[in-house]
Amino acid sequence: MSLKQKDLVSIESLSADELRLILETADSFKEVSGREIKKVPALRGKTVVNLFLEPSTRTRTSFELAAKRLSADVITFSPSSSSIVKGETLLDTARNIEAMQADIIVLRHPAAGAAETLARGLKSSVVNAGDGWHEHPTQALVDLFTLREKHLDFPGLRVAIVGDIAHSRVARSNIYALTKLGAEVRAVGPPTMIPSALDRLGVRVYHKLDEGLRGANVIMMLRLQLERQGKALFPTIREYSQFYGLTPERLKLAEPGVWVMHPGPINRGVEIAPEVVDSFSSVILDQAANGIAVRMAVLYLLSGANT
Ligand code: CP
Repeated sequence: MSLKQKDLVSIESLSADELRLILETADSFKEVSGREIKKVPALRGKTVVNLFLEPSTRTRTSFELAAKRLSADVITFSPSSSSIVKGETLLDTARNIEAMQADIIVLRHPAAGAAETLARGLKSSVVNAGDGWHEHPTQALVDLFTLREKHLDFPGLRVAIVGDIAHSRVARSNIYALTKLGAEVRAVGPPTMIPSALDRLGVRVYHKLDEGLRGANVIMMLRLQLERQGKALFPTIREYSQFYGLTPERLKLAEPGVWVMHPGPINRGVEIAPEVVDSFSSVILDQAANGIAVRMAVLYLLSGANT
């Protein structure tokens, strides 16, 4: 089996079988990072260009490492090092990169829909590494992979996603991914941070954190996306933290053995207490580590190396 599309722009456009295919492919790449020589020849001769037009630590590093561990040639651009600052359009920039025989372009961009625009305009494969508030498909795949690694089954799994869901591409991708695989998804946050159409996606909405946490098997905390909020959505950060911050006491409301996730970057003491970040329940660093295997799987499948 292979992926149906040449691009990975969204989780919404993937089937449950395609999600499973990516996760199973990532299983086989996970051990590569534990080897003394962390490399396989699967993408030798292929070129991956990382076009990151918004800040990133985890996604950018792990895409670059993933491509290198697959033996691809890799170039990474940031806004300051590209001619976009001189007025060139995104599509013209990408077409010039494609003319240099890039096989896969990985794009992070502040505008929702930017990855779709590139995917339609190019013959090269495009991977969405986060486009505005729209989607962050590889982050959701990383999160699914991390939960599978903890031997959790998705059907019936209760996942509480907490925080600024309206502006979170991670939340949107995870909602699609988790519901496609049969999990029960809860959206927890103040009314100003919860989009109105969530019930159509089968998501239960909670405005009180304690209620949303009761019985949860997984808690996914989100950062306040202040850079995407046009106006203040909560009176003060201190009050937000008081009502929606995950503390050790609140963690006890969830199911025993609950796992705490966060895509990063975390704001310790705002949405999550430092003791929770560093607790046995936290899989935040597992998520960062798993980014490499999952992104290796995505690059490998899109390159057609499996066919
Ligand atoms: N999770 C995530 O996208 O983190 P970065 O912004 O550091 O890539």
